[in-house]
Amino acid sequence: MQMKSKEKVGRRYSSRSVLPVVLAAGMLLLFLFILVSFFFAPEAGASFCPSIGCLRWKLGHPFFGAGDPSVELVRELRKAFVGDQDGHGGPVVVDQTSVDAAAESLDGLIAEMATTTSDYNQHMDVKTFVHKAKAMLLKMEHNVKKARLQGLIYRQLASIGIPKSMHCLTLLLADEYTLNSLARSSLPLPEYSSRLTNDSYIHIALLTNNVLAAAVVVSSTLASSTSRENLVFHIVTDKKTYTAMHSWFSLNPILPAIIEVKGLHHFDWPAHVNALVMETVEEIHRSSLAHHQLARVNEEYGRLETLNPNAFSLMNYLRIHLPELFPKLKRVIFLDDDVVVQRDLTDLLNFELNGNVNGAVSAGVIDDEGYQQCPGKEYGDYLNFSNPIISSPLLGLESQKCAWLGGMNVFDLQAWRRSNITQTYRHWLRLNRESGFHLWRMGAQPPSLIAFDGKVQLIDSSWHLSGLGRRIPEPQLLESAAVIHFSGPRKPWLEIAIPELLVFWKAHVNHSNEFIRTCKVME
Ligand SMILES: *[C@@H]1O[C@H](CO)[C@@H](O)[C@H](O)[C@H]1NC(C)=O
Ligand SMILES: *[C@@H]1O[C@H](CO)[C@@H](O)[C@H](O)[C@H]1NC(C)=O
Ligand SMILES: *[C@@H]1O[C@H](CO)[C@@H](O)[C@H](O)[C@H]1NC(C)=O
Ligand SMILES: *[C@@H]1O[C@H](CO)[C@@H](O)[C@H](O)[C@H]1NC(C)=O
Repeated sequence: MQMKSKEKVGRRYSSRSVLPVVLAAGMLLLFLFILVSFFFAPEAGASFCPSIGCLRWKLGHPFFGAGDPSVELVRELRKAFVGDQDGHGGPVVVDQTSVDAAAESLDGLIAEMATTTSDYNQHMDVKTFVHKAKAMLLKMEHNVKKARLQGLIYRQLASIGIPKSMHCLTLLLADEYTLNSLARSSLPLPEYSSRLTNDSYIHIALLTNNVLAAAVVVSSTLASSTSRENLVFHIVTDKKTYTAMHSWFSLNPILPAIIEVKGLHHFDWPAHVNALVMETVEEIHRSSLAHHQLARVNEEYGRLETLNPNAFSLMNYLRIHLPELFPKLKRVIFLDDDVVVQRDLTDLLNFELNGNVNGAVSAGVIDDEGYQQCPGKEYGDYLNFSNPIISSPLLGLESQKCAWLGGMNVFDLQAWRRSNITQTYRHWLRLNRESGFHLWRMGAQPPSLIAFDGKVQLIDSSWHLSGLGRRIPEPQLLESAAVIHFSGPRKPWLEIAIPELLVFWKAHVNHSNEFIRTCKVME
């Protein structure tokens, strides 16, 4: 009888005695909680008490020992966190499953205890309780560590400069997408979605995985527009950037204009279209791989890769699939992500293309005698005319002809669909890889020059000023151009940006935005 009673008191608590124990444990845990939250708080720094293991000597403090009424509880707590009193055996090991299943907070644990004691025969095992408490503390510690680690990552990234601040921005926005339902709200709102395929609107397409650059393109377009309500932006990005991109534009609405953000994984193409696009994607991968292999043995190829990383970015090539990306549209204005718009783009939409596919600005100018001069780039700057395939009369290309500029084009998608342009482009991509990249240096523009040859309508040169970041154009040209294009290597978001030009871009970065501030963008 006596044994039984002792065992009962020793091993189990009846419902009558559970409450005070829970309360006492609550007090202890509250103390533990304060300890944990104080010593693990990010502000206190990792140096003070970095782990549960550090709590060991704190729990060895006499406060937990003599004179405490819940002797067994204390013993179990001590065993759980420190090990046996006599020094045999280490602390109780709590497995990951228990940690995962543990309560998130002390309140949660007490609530759990309350329900367990009411429907678990009104009895509770002290060991179970302590085990759960430890699992909870481990979980809390893990969460605090995780949060602190994330804080550290963001701070670290923010401190190294602009490109890192952009990584920081992408990470924060992607995080926001998971945490904040507002960041996941549908883009555009369902009531506007019919505009996405309505040709009465001005459709602007942007293929990019650079959130900040996309934000600048969109803001500058809006700022210079006289009819925002007619603008429909279409942003296509890769799967990895999708959530961050979506977050940004959900949290920064642009009404009365609307915007659609799509990841490449969202396109629901018919099988034959899907196969077509996948073939291009695979060709780009094959080309990049082949180029990397050449770069390993040939310094010249390696230098190209460091100088022009864009040449290896899939997003840069996918513009050749605009008709597939926007199957229901007749006309789109295509913008690169390194442009700033300074004038209303409405007139571009009504521009007469005379049956051509691509409206583009020429890299040349007509001089006073009516001759075409090429202060910009000629075909010969892009393509290797020493190669018989390129100089073949069958192809009919002239090395001295002025190239047209990519990055601000208006495309007639219907005329494009009737043409062979996409197939021709893909054919040449393969040919260049097979020739060991002897036809042109890897890049998206040279095969475009071949594929669109004869289908380009030149438009007034004031529409597009290219080459920023390679050179500094005349101030009056900079002021008057409808679209300025940082096509040179010194991109405005890089630390190597040219300060005189940076101001034109930076003016469209929203410095009161909390994400921009947290990541120290452009400070
Ligand atoms: C396209 O938009 C215009 C202007 O809002 C509207 O009048 C027209 O009915 C729309 N067309 C379709 C097919 O929804
Ligand atoms: C398209 O290209 C194929 C093969 O390159 C060629 O046989 C065909 O005639 C071309 N069609 C047009 C409309 O140019
Ligand atoms: C241009 O083509 C010729 C002939 O194939 C080749 O010998 C040369 O290396 C090529 N130039 C470049 C820069 O690839
Ligand atoms: C800039 O960001 C703030 C805060 O996110 C927002 O309230 C404001 O409307 C933004 N300004 C512009 C011009 O987008």
